[in-house]
Amino acid sequence: MNILLIGSGGREHALAWSLADSPLTTRLVIAPGNPGMAPHGELRPIAADDLDGLCSLASEIAADLVVIGPEVPLVEGLADRLAELDIAAFGPSAAAAQLEGSKEFARAFCARHNVPQPAYYPVSDYAAACQHIDQLGGICVIKADGLAAGKGVVVADDAETAKVAAKSMLDGQFGDSGKRIVIEQRISGPEASLFALLDGDTAILMATAQDHKRAYDNDIGPNTGGMGAISPSPRLDKVLEDQVMQQIVHPVVRGMAAEGTPYRGVLYVGLMLTDDGPQVIEFNCRFGDPEAQVILPRLKTDIVSAMLATTTASLHHFDMRWDARAAVTVVMANKGYPGSYEKGSVIMDVDAAETVADCHVFHAGTALADNGDLIAVGGRVLAVTALGDDAASARRHAYEAVAKIDWQNGFYRNDIAKI
Ligand code: GLY
Repeated sequence: MNILLIGSGGREHALAWSLADSPLTTRLVIAPGNPGMAPHGELRPIAADDLDGLCSLASEIAADLVVIGPEVPLVEGLADRLAELDIAAFGPSAAAAQLEGSKEFARAFCARHNVPQPAYYPVSDYAAACQHIDQLGGICVIKADGLAAGKGVVVADDAETAKVAAKSMLDGQFGDSGKRIVIEQRISGPEASLFALLDGDTAILMATAQDHKRAYDNDIGPNTGGMGAISPSPRLDKVLEDQVMQQIVHPVVRGMAAEGTPYRGVLYVGLMLTDDGPQVIEFNCRFGDPEAQVILPRLKTDIVSAMLATTTASLHHFDMRWDARAAVTVVMANKGYPGSYEKGSVIMDVDAAETVADCHVFHAGTALADNGDLIAVGGRVLAVTALGDDAASARRHAYEAVAKIDWQNGFYRNDIAKI
């Protein structure tokens, strides 16, 4: 099969590595990709939000399947554009991707289908925002309705912080994405993520994971896209997994079908495990980053078969097999991330890290300099993943591999997957 993969981050490197390993893949083209993905397929310099360019490329290579990694092209309707060309896409339609693309849509959908979640109040003016913030005693979460590259959420402990965040979003901090905001009751408990495949009619569990969002050790510092992850999640046992499937994932697949917007693709369910049971913090319409970097190395089933079962509505016949071992990934980021950072520092000895058993180094913000050096050009730059018989050994192997990488301008957390 000719497969086109869209995206350029660590998540897409993990996808490229898995797709290239499938016996069903005859040709893998990646747009735009990064240097770490070059051994797995042909890189084409077309941006992940250039829908016209991506559709032309899919036609040019006679793609049998297009795998859409990031949320922006999904929310903007790439899967729909490809469907018009009769090209199968792994990833939901724009209507279904609203579960991530509009926080208000997701909350209202959960309310219509009795999916457990915190109380929420969508607003578009500051006076109404203040009223709800005061009603919640200032202990609340403020979310921009639309996509904001992972930056559109503020968790507030007091009314002043909440009101400043609400005002700044409504005043255009995130452009149109913050024209409406959602004010949510703040719930508490450990966080975990569950990933499921949905084919429009049927949902099956994939795997669970837990990421670490704060920049520095001991969960301090600014929020990031994720500084590391572990799979399976130490917080989700079989009983909780079943509960999440019954109370959240199955109602989502049934509800989306009933509303005429069937969901096909991977559903990422961000959860808080409260005293009253699991509640939805957020949905994402794609794999997580860096969760994909710990989930995909544990996948034993052929990934292309799983994606085809999803696009052809045959998941009811499908079973996924997983490595029982744990996987841990440690993200190496550019000093300054998630704020501003320098570009162009040289990274050495990535090959040495991959000599550690069952270790994979997934690239994100890397590029090749004119002289062939590997250089850092993004915020999150590498995700160093290792497997182990349990979380502690996976963690040990991951840090052993990280220690072999020579990158003066990089930093990482030392407490990923520390139980
Ligand atoms: N790691 C969080 C995300 O992918 O949204």
